[in-house]
Amino acid sequence: MKFANDFLFGAASAAYQVEGAWDQDGKGPTNWDEFTKIPGKTFEGTNGDVAVDHYNRYKEDIALMAEMGLESYRFSISWARIFPNGSGEINQKGIDFYNNLIDECLKYGIVPFVTLYHWDLPLPLEKEGAWLNKNTADAYVEYAKLCFNEFGDRVKNFITFNETVVFAALGYMSGAHPPGIQNDPKKYFQVTHNVFYAHARTIIEYKKLNQFGEIGLSHVFSPAFAVDDSPANEFAAEHANQFGVNWFYDPILKGEYPEYVVKQLEESGLLPDWTLEELAVIKQAAPLNDFMGLNYYQPMRVEKIEQPVEQVEHSLENSTGSPGNPSFDHVFRTVKMDDKKYTKWDWEISPTGFVDGLVMLKDQYGQIKLYITENGLGDEDPIIEGAVCDIPRINFLNDHLCAVKEAIDRGVHIKGFYSWSAIDLLSWLNGYKKQYGFIYVDHQNGLARKKKASFHWYKEIIDTRGESLAR
Ligand code: BG6
Repeated sequence: MKFANDFLFGAASAAYQVEGAWDQDGKGPTNWDEFTKIPGKTFEGTNGDVAVDHYNRYKEDIALMAEMGLESYRFSISWARIFPNGSGEINQKGIDFYNNLIDECLKYGIVPFVTLYHWDLPLPLEKEGAWLNKNTADAYVEYAKLCFNEFGDRVKNFITFNETVVFAALGYMSGAHPPGIQNDPKKYFQVTHNVFYAHARTIIEYKKLNQFGEIGLSHVFSPAFAVDDSPANEFAAEHANQFGVNWFYDPILKGEYPEYVVKQLEESGLLPDWTLEELAVIKQAAPLNDFMGLNYYQPMRVEKIEQPVEQVEHSLENSTGSPGNPSFDHVFRTVKMDDKKYTKWDWEISPTGFVDGLVMLKDQYGQIKLYITENGLGDEDPIIEGAVCDIPRINFLNDHLCAVKEAIDRGVHIKGFYSWSAIDLLSWLNGYKKQYGFIYVDHQNGLARKKKASFHWYKEIIDTRGESLAR
């Protein structure tokens, strides 16, 4: 059961969800700073103004991660700390903060794994159309180049974007994320293309610098499976994977969009406005992509539908990731199944879906290098006599790490695992109620940190390189 010595045991976070300090030391406002202040947009109106104050307490947090034996910390850079307006004027204090954070990781031998974009966009760029405006890609490439020049001597792993599907779909289909637009598939597909183009340009720029690190991007990995083996539902699963997996993975790994989806978007007038030059850049960049990051929480169970069905309204108590909704084109809907296990927020718990999905990916794309850049359990952790007893999280991570090992044994090329999350943080829509971390943050007691049961468990797993996992 041992994982190879060069497999990284990590944990992750994102700037808006942990840093706080939203206007400290010259940081500019972002889309999320604005969006969370609109009444009704987040659970109990929570926002990241203070979050868990990682900006001011990063030394304490990194020391705890080191004590846990963490080998790598995935965090994101807030673009607006570095370019308060998105482009133009540079804020040296923002650069200093990330230099300090990186150096603090390296002091303990923790590999910094840096995400350049985890959804917090400088507000002026949001106002000018966000990712619908092609100038945003220009600004992004400049920002990324600055990060490479400032941090690339010590950071050897860069992720360009986190989960394009989420900020595009929640921004332009469900309206749950900024800019809060609903049911606009034309914009949704346009955003995905503009982001893939920005990704491609960025990795070409990175390679020109000869920093000899790795660069890739992180996608949601939510493979679709049919609820039964009827041909109609098998077709629904294939269709869902074309739109949910191939549309996102093909342009990055193969440098072109899947024909099946392109044809349907053409017929329905939803094809993004793209130029031949953009498509050529995407093609040129594909072989330069060093890895793919997968964020796996749950698979999708799908069934074919014959006529349009109503969209399920998800409350903030509930969650946007829970099943029940039709696809945008009303070909299928996602289903909650009686024989499956679910979290309190209705996300399916399926380590077997993880293995099956990973093998499916290998069969389609070959042995590309993968990192599991997120996987974890959102829960309300029980506190018993002052101790945080997050046993369900231990079980969840145990089973998903076993799934990763099984996939490796079946030939899938996985080089690391990042639990979501290192420390309790702000869930975008579910506030602080939903916890993910190994480190508990006491919001009633000045944000004091406390080690959870899972903290000690993960330390043991890392120490034994997985040998102590329960099978
Ligand atoms: C991923 C995101 O989609 O899911 C994280 O990259 C997020 O930022 C995580 O926190 C869990 O989602 P949620 O809605 O439970 O916070």
